[in-house]
Amino acid sequence: MAGPPASLSARDVGSFAYLSVKDRSPQILTKAIDTLHRHKSEFFEKHGEKGLEAEKKAISLLSKLRNELQTDKPIVPLVEKFVDTDIWNQYLEYQQSLLNESDGKPRWFLSPWLFVECYMYRRIHEAIIQSPPIDDFDIFKELKDQNFFESQESVITLCTHLQELRKTIDLDENQLKNEFLKVLQISLWGNKCDLSLSGGEHISQKTNIMNSLEDLKPFILVNDMDRLWSLLSNCKKTREEESVTRVDIVLDNSGFELITDLVLADFLLSSKLATKIHFYGKTIPWFVSDTTIHDFNWIIKQLKHSNNKWVSQCGVDWEDHIKTGRWVYVDHVFWTLPHEFSAMSQVAPDLYAALQKAHLIFFKGDLNYRKLTGDRRWEFTIPFHEALSGFHPAPLCSIRTLKAEVQVGLQPGQGEQLTASEPNWLTTGKYGVFQFDGPL
Ligand code: F6P
Ligand code: MG
Repeated sequence: MAGPPASLSARDVGSFAYLSVKDRSPQILTKAIDTLHRHKSEFFEKHGEKGLEAEKKAISLLSKLRNELQTDKPIVPLVEKFVDTDIWNQYLEYQQSLLNESDGKPRWFLSPWLFVECYMYRRIHEAIIQSPPIDDFDIFKELKDQNFFESQESVITLCTHLQELRKTIDLDENQLKNEFLKVLQISLWGNKCDLSLSGGEHISQKTNIMNSLEDLKPFILVNDMDRLWSLLSNCKKTREEESVTRVDIVLDNSGFELITDLVLADFLLSSKLATKIHFYGKTIPWFVSDTTIHDFNWIIKQLKHSNNKWVSQCGVDWEDHIKTGRWVYVDHVFWTLPHEFSAMSQVAPDLYAALQKAHLIFFKGDLNYRKLTGDRRWEFTIPFHEALSGFHPAPLCSIRTLKAEVQVGLQPGQGEQLTASEPNWLTTGKYGVFQFDGPL
């Protein structure tokens, strides 16, 4: 049997991976350097001269990184001693072992894009942790927070909708299903707001997303929402008293997208489709806008202190979900490693075992989709199950807008038709999927 197809890589000149490494990644590094500059006086106020020295050091490490990338230097091992340093360096050796002698060492414009892109974010983190006393500075924090503030109107709309729903939650089966489908779609389109695609340029949710759902439906290329409903409504019907239905959400971006995910999570509890939610976030700043525990707590606090009563009610309720253990936030270093998910059972067996306890797992966003499918040049019609390459901890569903050149599970001809009419359909975030893998 033939092995899996080749990885997406910047070695394919003109591909999205190539353009990302060539243009978008250096732009993100430049913005990161600029952010450090702008916080100079804050570092000084907090730490005196030491703060200024640290800022200089972090900037010089990031400039060096940008230069390595732009001149296609070999990927070098990580140097500091952090929890995941050894795993990273082993992975680097593994990448080296995949190369022919003539290729030399892993490099930015040669190695798999997934690997070099993750490596860039890990090196950004390295630059920061090597620069105490500013070693806990989240270089992307202000962008994430801005995205939240700029989406205020939509946040109010969503929180109001959710609180009104909660009052009338004794809906009949059909109404409940309709509302479930709505919160799912809100969470899908929330994924348009990722800041790494825009190179850190602001993109927030300004229009009323609730009114757009019908118009956006034609852009859902794979729609397994009915299967999600069947699975959860069946859990609800057959659940014995005191037993648990657990839904896990592997989070993606903070800001507006996180709100949409929390709305979904709250709805699952209040409708009793689930009784417990586990959230997984990132342990370090990642792909600009990804959620860390600080972002998660910060956003809930912001909501709680809002002037709008529905928004602040959401903050209060969500804090309560956390206090009572119905919502659990879980950290794991695996999510910021470069491995595809098919390696999880080997590299992070504890995490794999934890996911196996879920009744359903939602994987939010594009990067998770790339890791689910190994970020490879699959044919569009390959079944999702096959592209997962053995990763099946529990029934799972990718909720993702398309921002990278990988898509599987399409109907024959569907991908080709889209390519003919819209050459960039894979990377603009205009299209989305609910792609499910689980028992039929
Ligand atoms: O392609 C744009 C990009 O930066 C990809 O590198 C990455 O897959 C994606 O955006 C991140 O998007 P998301 O936040 O949806 O995972
Ligand atoms: Mg992201």
